[in-house]
Amino acid sequence: MTGYPPEPWRVKMVEPIRATTREYREQALRAAGWNPCLLRSEDVYVDLFTDSGTNAMSDRQWSALMRGDEAYAGARSFYVFEEAVRAHYGYEHVIPVHQGRGGENILSRCLIRPGTHIPGNMYFPSTRAHQELNGATFHDVIIDEAHDPSCEHPFKGDVDLGKLRAVIAEFGPESIPYVSIAATVNMAGGQPISVANLAEVGELAHANGIPVFLDTARAIENAWFVQQREPGWANASIAEILLALCAVTDGAVMSSKKDSLVNIGGWIGLRDSELAEKARGLVLLYEGLHTYGGMAGRDMEAIAAGIAESVEEDHVRARIAQVEHLGGRLRDAGVPVILPLGGHCVCVDATATLSHLPRTGFTAQTLAAAVYLQAGVRGVERGAVSAGRDPVTGENRFPPLEFLRLAIPRRVYTRSHIDYVADNVIEVHQRRDDIVRGLAFTYEPRHLRFFQARFAPDGGETIFAR
Ligand code: F0G
Repeated sequence: MTGYPPEPWRVKMVEPIRATTREYREQALRAAGWNPCLLRSEDVYVDLFTDSGTNAMSDRQWSALMRGDEAYAGARSFYVFEEAVRAHYGYEHVIPVHQGRGGENILSRCLIRPGTHIPGNMYFPSTRAHQELNGATFHDVIIDEAHDPSCEHPFKGDVDLGKLRAVIAEFGPESIPYVSIAATVNMAGGQPISVANLAEVGELAHANGIPVFLDTARAIENAWFVQQREPGWANASIAEILLALCAVTDGAVMSSKKDSLVNIGGWIGLRDSELAEKARGLVLLYEGLHTYGGMAGRDMEAIAAGIAESVEEDHVRARIAQVEHLGGRLRDAGVPVILPLGGHCVCVDATATLSHLPRTGFTAQTLAAAVYLQAGVRGVERGAVSAGRDPVTGENRFPPLEFLRLAIPRRVYTRSHIDYVADNVIEVHQRRDDIVRGLAFTYEPRHLRFFQARFAPDGGETIFAR
């Protein structure tokens, strides 16, 4: 490995972090019910729990905060924000929400009737939860390769058009409120969808009178992979590819906490005026006035500045290179990671790492615990705990992918932090046979259970042989 290009920024302000002892971490993790989600961030050394809202803002963004217009209605900051979203994503109607799931709630309430069906390229927990809460059933129509951790398909976020056609044929277009597409696909490990495939999805859906909505949380990282991998796009800029991805779709839900380099915020982008008016009405009920949607004026200013920075080639190149550096080091040391390496995270295949444990012991949750105990590094489970229970049968869902996600916040950690993580994850992998027990729920919440769940080692004091 030759590492990655020097970061296109320098550090202007620092936030101290603290290393802890193993004994301290054992106490902290037990108090957190063996769920890294419930740890205090002070007890975490390198926090790779998520790339959502954990970004470092630039000096330009911090100074934009000072321009926040905090008027309740019609704030100037809203129009700055609206213009930035329109210019870079191309949607006529821009409706602010406090974060992605706020937008998912509104869109689901606007469009879903009980008993309907939503096809999509793999689920995301909050997206599917809102679809299910409104009475729809989600159908995964992603290509089979997405479920195979070692398959190096360049666009593992692509939709299998045969599967999409089959869902339309089985339930009828009138029972499908929309097709739900993500760019990149988080639960597949940050895997992109190609522009060509998205265009085909649009054609098929529109021929059946079905709209297509895009989850744009990480569409810029998707645009990078299109530029690098998709024939015909090598000379297009990230900004041009982003517009091309959105152009095919009828609207988008955005969690600005990812690509847009901020700590909070989001929006719904729409083309249809009637739907936009309906969505604004619901934003008034659930988020805030339709010109702030749960954000402060300053948040909208920071997003507008962040959007402009997020499409800069140097930024995206350095961001993806950092992910590749971590993933490359793990891969080269024999740690099973999802390939190709994704846009925002490196995913350690927990089923392969802990192949000696049953999946009913929640192997990715167990691996997350082991990595925290080893080094104070926090990742997140993306497997059976995240997948929840089937709403009809009540049984645990065991998705094909079961992994520990190490998500990298943008512009936050340096190469030495990344190497520290790599060294320690490699060591956990080398000593994986010491992990002899999985985890069992001691408390299981009904919705999005991974956030608040508590566990205990299944049949012993600890997950290790000792
Ligand atoms: N869509 C995708 C693809 C996401 O990754 C997330 C959040 C959301 C929607 C919801 O947005 O958090 O702003 O309400 N993902 C975070 C993560 C939580 O860690 O992957 P939100």
